Amino acid sequence: MRHLSVPRAQTQHWLELCRTKQWNSITAGVTNLEDGTNAIPLNELAPREGDPIWDGHPHVDIPANVRPKSENWLDHLDEDFVAEHSEELPRSFEIQGDVLIVKLGESIWEYGEMMADAMLTQFPHVRLVCGTPFYSGVKGEFRIRELIPLASRDGTVSPRTRVRENGYFLWVDPSKVYFSARLSNQRMATLHSSKKLRNKLGRGLVVADPYAGVGPSMASLLKEPDLLSGYLAGDLNPDAVELLELNIEYFTSRRKDSEGNVAEPLEPSEISCCDAKSWPLDAKNQGVVDLLLVNLPHQSIEHIPALLPLMSRGHTTVLRGWAIAERTAISDIESSISEAVLAAGGVVEQLAVDEVKGFSMTKVFVCFEAWMFLSS
Ligand SMILES: C[S@@+](CC[C@H](N)C(=O)[O-])C[C@H]1O[C@@H](n2cnc3c(N)ncnc32)[C@H](O)[C@@H]1O
Repeated sequence: MRHLSVPRAQTQHWLELCRTKQWNSITAGVTNLEDGTNAIPLNELAPREGDPIWDGHPHVDIPANVRPKSENWLDHLDEDFVAEHSEELPRSFEIQGDVLIVKLGESIWEYGEMMADAMLTQFPHVRLVCGTPFYSGVKGEFRIRELIPLASRDGTVSPRTRVRENGYFLWVDPSKVYFSARLSNQRMATLHSSKKLRNKLGRGLVVADPYAGVGPSMASLLKEPDLLSGYLAGDLNPDAVELLELNIEYFTSRRKDSEGNVAEPLEPSEISCCDAKSWPLDAKNQGVVDLLLVNLPHQSIEHIPALLPLMSRGHTTVLRGWAIAERTAISDIESSISEAVLAAGGVVEQLAVDEVKGFSMTKVFVCFEAWMFLSS
């Protein structure tokens, strides 16, 4: 196999260049040569020997150093380094589309690029590795993580990417907008409840998703034939709304009815960038919503009274949302929802509050779902 021979001290530089240009072989590793140089395996796209890009470094034809398939990204790091830093090395990471996000402690931050290179080697579908400082947590009113690009496979450092979820693609950008792949089963449950409500009402639903983020819930509902007749969706974060618009446009343009024909246009079909609590101040939004999603877990419960004027009246409607609560105070959520529905002139037909996962030592992340009837 053709290799680029370079002084050992320059290996990282040339590896990066070849990786950015996609000229390196991904099946073979670097070979140490007896003359003290390192040989980087090249693929057929790499320019020929003598091209000015190689800066005079020669090509050599030697057998490929085929790597046994590694189980772990740590296998691509120096063994002594791993042993020395075993306590500080990250144990987990998150992948959104082709972006890998890893939390790094201060003591290990200086090795970020080297670790990111090892991750790029281990995960061929990852394009960009971003670090998030351990101490920084989430920032600002939109609770976004600070992301710092550590290494890129092709030189691009934009974290905007597409994730695949429940069989469809969504635009996301972890540096600007909240998105959690871990909640995809919650979105499936939302779809399930929506179908039940649709069957009960015998017609398509109008859904409101005022904290939509990039729109993962909207995507699963829009994709279902004959489920929706209209929607109101939005977010306070303008970056979220930009991606929400892209995602909704993608799904609405492909909508089909259950017979496979192009579906009827949705009415209403609105995307807004504003505070959810201001939606009901617009008269045209009042009394139109059959299914309301409330996903602002730190504040969902306190926002509910302001949002209930959106709900349509004279038939069953559903409020479904997520909240973070003290483990000992789950019953308070039930009473707050019941009181809000009563104050809006309705009754709760069914109410469930279920723990989804632990959030901290004392707090839990819960899903609530209230079936209600608001009199006309
Ligand atoms: C927990 S995220 C949920 C996003 C999305 N529903 C999902 O499941 O991925 C909450 C979203 O609410 C937005 N947000 C925060 N305060 C808001 C407000 N007052 N009105 C509307 N959206 C708000 C944030 O920007 C964020 O995108």
